[in-house]
Amino acid sequence: MSGRVVAVANRLPVRRTAAGGWEISPGGLVSALAPILRDSGGAWIGWSGVPDDHPEPFVHDGIAQHAVPLSAAEYADYYLGFCNSSLWPLYHDAIREAEFRPDWWEAYRSVNRRFAQAVAAQHDPGDLTWVHDYQLQLVPALLRRLQPNARIGYFLHIPFPPVEIFARLPWRRQILSGLLGADVIGFQTERSLGNFLAAAERFTDAVVGRRALAVGGRWVQVQCAPISIDTAGYEALAAQPRVRRRAAEIRAEIGRPARILLGADRLDYTKGIDVRLLALERLLEQQPRLAEEIVLIQIASPSREPIGDYEAMRARIEQLVGRINGSHGAAHTVPVHYVYGNLPTEELVAYFVLADVMCVTPLADGMNLVAKEYVASRPADEGVLLLSEFAGAAAELEGALLVNPYDLEGLAAAMAAALEMSPGEQAARLRAMRTRVRLHDVHAWAAHCLGALEHPEMPQGEVAEELTGPAVEAARYRPSGEPGPPDALEAFDEITATLRYRPVVVFLDFDGTLSPIVEDPDAAVLPARERKAVEALARRVPVAVVSGRDLEDVQRRVGIPGLWYVGGHGNALADPAGAVVGDTAGIGTDSVTDLLDTAEADLRRRLQGADSGVVIERKRASLTVHYRRAPHSLRRVREAAEATVASLPELRLSAGRALFELHPGDAWDKGTAVRWLLGRISPDRGAVPLYLGDDTTDETAFRAIAADGIGVLVGRVAVGTAAGYRLGERRHVADFLNRLAKLAAREDGGSPDDR
Ligand code: G6P
Repeated sequence: MSGRVVAVANRLPVRRTAAGGWEISPGGLVSALAPILRDSGGAWIGWSGVPDDHPEPFVHDGIAQHAVPLSAAEYADYYLGFCNSSLWPLYHDAIREAEFRPDWWEAYRSVNRRFAQAVAAQHDPGDLTWVHDYQLQLVPALLRRLQPNARIGYFLHIPFPPVEIFARLPWRRQILSGLLGADVIGFQTERSLGNFLAAAERFTDAVVGRRALAVGGRWVQVQCAPISIDTAGYEALAAQPRVRRRAAEIRAEIGRPARILLGADRLDYTKGIDVRLLALERLLEQQPRLAEEIVLIQIASPSREPIGDYEAMRARIEQLVGRINGSHGAAHTVPVHYVYGNLPTEELVAYFVLADVMCVTPLADGMNLVAKEYVASRPADEGVLLLSEFAGAAAELEGALLVNPYDLEGLAAAMAAALEMSPGEQAARLRAMRTRVRLHDVHAWAAHCLGALEHPEMPQGEVAEELTGPAVEAARYRPSGEPGPPDALEAFDEITATLRYRPVVVFLDFDGTLSPIVEDPDAAVLPARERKAVEALARRVPVAVVSGRDLEDVQRRVGIPGLWYVGGHGNALADPAGAVVGDTAGIGTDSVTDLLDTAEADLRRRLQGADSGVVIERKRASLTVHYRRAPHSLRRVREAAEATVASLPELRLSAGRALFELHPGDAWDKGTAVRWLLGRISPDRGAVPLYLGDDTTDETAFRAIAADGIGVLVGRVAVGTAAGYRLGERRHVADFLNRLAKLAAREDGGSPDDR
């Protein structure tokens, strides 16, 4: 890792001891990040877990700890309120009603702001800042405002809900923009990732691809990165003689039952502890003699107790335990052993070692690490994992017995099947799962997430194609601050040196280069400054205007006589006398007209009822569909255009700024046109082509002249551009052309009309 890694989470990795000191709080995230933070000289920013606690920054276990204080009121409104009574139930499929209160939201915003400020205050350039979980969803965008060049990762540990549920959140847009401040957003499952993309598509201006979004001129990468555990650590603990002794001790304490089922959860209504108790009860009703043979140990660690739903769940569980033990227990047998409290990791592993059947039955769960911890703690290849299909872990742990926790009969039957599973089958299933958690442990997870943050992968191929139109505009650019090709004005001496004593032919794109991009493509004009500059230059050197517009259209808009013109991406060319030249075979012929008629009818039919901002423009040699005024229709437009092209094999599809272009497959592009014109204008003099353009379609020209010419990209720096220079802003185009005109005049010895 080249920079420091700074972790930002609601809680610090340490907690207060009774004596007021600090101890490490065990957990997967802590074990994964601690060595990385230590080695990179990083820091952890989080809450101490105690309201009104204001510790100064300190170092624990080699890691700088920056506590963000929460007042008692914020503990109530931010933590118990917005985090755990609004977001937590909502994100877990709304299995409890989410309560929304503006004062809770205000507290959430203000605590998120405090976290962002705490991060910004100790930010160093080069830091990789990694923000965690649903408590801090606004931090990425808030931090970006304070530190625009920060590299920010975000990981959501809990599920991202389906869009219909997420839509209920009154502050859904704010939450999404908060997250979109990150460079990389990680999710536990493909399902969560898909839900997030659907929400972003519906509620933000982002253009959404499969693995990235384009928003506000930036890329945001998204990834599915299931979190894991310190597998080797659990395997080692489970093999410890003292842990195995402790397991035997516990077995004796509970009367040496023939079979032990285990549940180990935070006491949360999402975990389905009640469901599993009900299923056990059902099983005991069906097979009463099992009460003599089996025991369920339920470990429940206290959590968020001031919240009514948690309190109610605890009461319900304890009542169920009493009921089952009352009706199925006897003097010497107790079917359910209930352990309420926080167990040290070692003690927990002793329970894993002991358990024949591990019951993990949440109604909804981001991942569920207990399932993975159990797998790692079973070196003897015996044991069955009963796993809810609604836990993120179900996507990975194929060897588990998958259950639907809403199906009580099914769950009881699965418990019975688990108790009866043959040793051979147990071993085969466990081995497959152990291989998985060994290969994908928490260290691999952290490396995967931080790797994406450190080395952003710009969307390519399929993904880049997904992100066409406004996204090309927004997304084909490098993150701000990253170097691109040199500025053409700053490097003007270098350009002068290339051009010295050699003729030059200047090619100029129209929209976005000579003329500002406007909402209505029909409203584009050539402003006076650019007009003057082009006129001055054209008195000295050959100038061609190269456009995707129809030839007559661009000629009319520019209106400067004596220039070469290229229309329709090269499908029609005119010389300075206005005569149409070039070998643009087929254009205007009946067959092309028929083809475009058919395509137009087909496309109009497919886009019937689309947003009125979607405009189909018929050109002489192509059909263009614009969606600048209806960016949300991107997907619909793309699918329609693709379908039309698929139905007419002579057609090709290309994408430009907020548009798709359908044109005959053998059509020229700007690159072909530039090479053809160059041959025509300077058949033997070896003129240097100089091309200014801003769009993806101009890249064909940049590539065509890369070996012998000068390409100048206008606007922000496109990823993978073939241009050798850039002009950061369009208004510098006129300055650049004026300097070129002066240079040409000097080289000419100043005679006004000699070219
Ligand atoms: C879940 C959340 C974590 C949270 C943990 C404990 O796993 O994803 O962010 O820290 O529960 O909850 P608590 O409210 O005690 O922090």
